Amino acid sequence: MLYAASGRAIRTWIKDSGELCKMEISFLLNGETAHITADPTRTLLDWLREERGLKGTKEGCNEGDCGACTVMVTDETGPRAMNACILFLPQLAGKAVRTVEGVAAPDGNLSPVQEAMVNHHGSQCGFCTPGFIMSMTAAHIAGAQNHDDILAGNLCRCTGYAPIIRAAESAATKPVPQWLQDQPSALPITSTDTAYLPETSDDLAQWYAANPDATLIAGATDVGLWVTKQLRDLPKVAFLNRVRDLQTVTVTGDSIHIGAGVTMNQLLPYLRQYHPSYAEMVRRYASHQVRNAATIGGNVANGSPIGDNPPALIALGATLHLRHGDTRRSLPIEDFFIAYGKQDRAKGEFVEAITIPTTAPALRVYKLSKRFDQDISTACGAFNVTVTDGIVTDARIAFGGMAATPKRASAVEAALLGQLWGTATEAALAAFATDYQPLSDMRASAAYRLEAAQGLLLRYIDDLAGKQTHVLEVSA
Ligand SMILES: Cc1cc2nc3c(=O)[nH]c(=O)nc-3n(C[C@H](O)[C@H](O)[C@H](O)COP(=O)(O)OP(=O)(O)OC[C@H]3O[C@@H](n4cnc5c(N)ncnc54)[C@H](O)[C@@H]3O)c2cc1C
Ligand code: FES
Ligand code: FES
Repeated sequence: MLYAASGRAIRTWIKDSGELCKMEISFLLNGETAHITADPTRTLLDWLREERGLKGTKEGCNEGDCGACTVMVTDETGPRAMNACILFLPQLAGKAVRTVEGVAAPDGNLSPVQEAMVNHHGSQCGFCTPGFIMSMTAAHIAGAQNHDDILAGNLCRCTGYAPIIRAAESAATKPVPQWLQDQPSALPITSTDTAYLPETSDDLAQWYAANPDATLIAGATDVGLWVTKQLRDLPKVAFLNRVRDLQTVTVTGDSIHIGAGVTMNQLLPYLRQYHPSYAEMVRRYASHQVRNAATIGGNVANGSPIGDNPPALIALGATLHLRHGDTRRSLPIEDFFIAYGKQDRAKGEFVEAITIPTTAPALRVYKLSKRFDQDISTACGAFNVTVTDGIVTDARIAFGGMAATPKRASAVEAALLGQLWGTATEAALAAFATDYQPLSDMRASAAYRLEAAQGLLLRYIDDLAGKQTHVLEVSA
């Protein structure tokens, strides 16, 4: 292979030299069993197109942004639309995958979604269409009706969304064909010395303590890009997606215990019930496909200064639970973020869970991004202020996108404490400059960020006073 070839080709050549271990993986592909031997960090998209010739699954961005590569993945929790470009093959072990080639009936008749797309003129150049078909098929099977949210991660340049949404609405009225109802089968799961698929958090804890140099892969919505964009090799990995005991949400008394492996979409119904403003932020977090994969543990553990969960969790006073082997410890979540790229996590230690309170009526979470849907935040502010007899008696305010870590606004909080709520805000607004010295980057200038953060405090005051503050919200 020539070195002048693309980055991916060079990577493949390195792998073919035997540097990385391959593993055996089994799953259902369009209803047929696939037993394969593959590099653990090979993406489903590459494999479908290069090994199976299933080129209906398109490559647009190769980083989870466009939805052209959407496939449907079914496990015991049901069908999910997922981006094949940032899905590693071992994440599919024991599951059922359906691509656009497997949507029509065995006799060749179109599925209800395909038929509706034709009838409603939902396709022009057609490049995005397979991805839309797969998102719509998963939604049809799940009985979902929130088409605007579900299709926000499928980008179409030419047709326009109105005919596509009409097609989705039309398909939703038709029965789900039997041939699309995949059942995950009990296919054997194998691990190797360098790629581990634990079934329980106990297994994970033991293995990770013994292999602290390994990379944990939960939803792979960050790690996938390390491979597809940064061309990084990951010599030793553990996939967390089979660890069911990390994927539970338990409400006990006044607290909600969230396993690290809970995806953003699995968390959403709980947030809607207990913390609606936080839920509204999560509705705009990435896309439906990414929320189907991205875990809360991954979003915290990566320590990203622009992660959207940490500010909300800090404002809620969340507790982070870490585990190393059989040793567990807990800490206030804000203490986890030490500096850029540095978290309070020892080698071999992993995030096991996060606990938040059930009640925080004054919590508001505001995500500012250039695009309403499916965009990384320019800044994300979370406010949770307690006012007793008109006086501020407690304040927890935190921001992402304003510092090298998700960070609490301690000076702003101090300026508010003991003051009459809604008055004397000048000192609190000025204190933002003490708390944050943001950077200028492609999303915004430092001056914009600071002013926007101050604006969000004013918005919060209006919001709690019952004024309409959702001026940017648009709906079709
Ligand atoms: C298109 C796109 C849009 C996005 N939009 C947003 C957005 O709007 N807001 C936002 O905040 N993020 C966004 N992200 C980033 C990403 O989705 C999140 O950071 C996500 O929550 C990561 O979770 P994951 O399960 O996919 O983590 P992974 O990619 O699997 O892992 C991320 C990191 O966490 C580590 N890790 C994972 N689980 C654990 C654990 N239990 N214990 C210890 N370490 C662990 C991994 O080793 C890795 O270092 C987006 C990503 C994409 C691709
Ligand atoms: S190719 Fe764009 S999301 Fe996968
Ligand atoms: S039909 Fe051309 S991009 Fe959607």
